[in-house]
Amino acid sequence: MEFENILISYPQKYIAQLEINRPSKLNALNQVTIASLSQAFHTLEKDDTIRVIVLTGAGEKAFVAGADISEFAQYTKEEGTALSRKGHASLFDTIANLNKPVIAAINGFALGGGLELAMACHFRLASENAKMGLPEVSLGLIPGYGGTQRLPQLIGKGRAMEMMLTGAMITADKALSFGLVNHVVAKEELLTNCLKIAEKILANSPKAASQIIRAVNAGYQTKTDGFEIEIQSFGDCFGTEDFKEGTQAFLQKRKPNFS
Ligand code: COA
Repeated sequence: MEFENILISYPQKYIAQLEINRPSKLNALNQVTIASLSQAFHTLEKDDTIRVIVLTGAGEKAFVAGADISEFAQYTKEEGTALSRKGHASLFDTIANLNKPVIAAINGFALGGGLELAMACHFRLASENAKMGLPEVSLGLIPGYGGTQRLPQLIGKGRAMEMMLTGAMITADKALSFGLVNHVVAKEELLTNCLKIAEKILANSPKAASQIIRAVNAGYQTKTDGFEIEIQSFGDCFGTEDFKEGTQAFLQKRKPNFS
C-alpha cells in the first residue's frame, strides 16, 4: 500500500502507524496529503488485520503545523466553505467515526488543522517538546476542521475560547493539565508509549471497541449542528479583508495589520 506524503508501517501485529511525511513544510496539510490520509484511513478501516492505528508526523519539529496556507490564500468565500466541508467529510469525521481506535502521537507542533487532526483522533499522547494551538484568528480565519466544536468538548468552553481568541500556543504540560492530551513523555519514548497503550486495547474485543467509539460520539451530537455553523463561518472569513491581510502576512513572513 502506498499513499502520497504518508509513510505506513506495521510496528506490531494488528497495529498500523501512519506518519505524515512533508517535514520541509512542517507536515502542513495540503490537499494531496488530506486525500491520501483519507484513503489510508478508509483502507485501514476495512482491513481486519489492523485493530489500532497510531498517527504521527515525520521529522524532528512537527506533528502538523496546520492546513497549507499557501494553497488557500487566494480562495473565495465559496471555495473556503467547500474546503472546510470536504475536509470534514473526507478526513476529520472519518477519523472521529472510524470503527477502530486511532491514537495521535503529537511529536512537535500541532497547530490549526494539525491540532484539529489530533483532536479528531480518539485520544492523544504528546512528547515534552510538543506545542499546541489554534492560531487561525491571526490569519483572519477560524478553525475549519472541527476545532470550534472538538476543543471545547475536550477542555471546556472557557479554556477553548481563550486558546482560539488569543491564538496562543500551549506547552505539552499545559495540554496535559487541560486534558487535551492523556500523557506527556520524552520524545524518544512517544511511539513506544503509544504502542504500550495499543497493546492494552488489543487485549480487548475489537467489536466492543468499535461500539464504544460509536456510543461516545453519539453523545456529542446536538440539535444545533455546530460543525455546520463552523463550515459556514469559516467560508465567510474568506470574503474579508482581514483574511487577505492575515494570509499574505504569513506568506510574506511579517506581522499582520488588522485595521
Ligand atoms: N502552511 C504552509 N506552509 C507552512 C505552514 C502552514 N501551515 N507551516 C509551516 N509552513 C512552512 C513555512 O512556510 C516554511 O516554508 P519555507 O521553508 O518554504 O519558507 C516551512 O514550513 C518551515 O516553517 P518556518 O515558519 O520557517 O518554521 P519556524 O520554526 O520558524 O516556525 C511555526 C514554526 C510552526 C511557528 C510556523 O511555521 C507557523 O507559524 N506556521 C503556521 C501555523 C499556522 O498558522 N497554522 C494554522 C494554519 S490554518
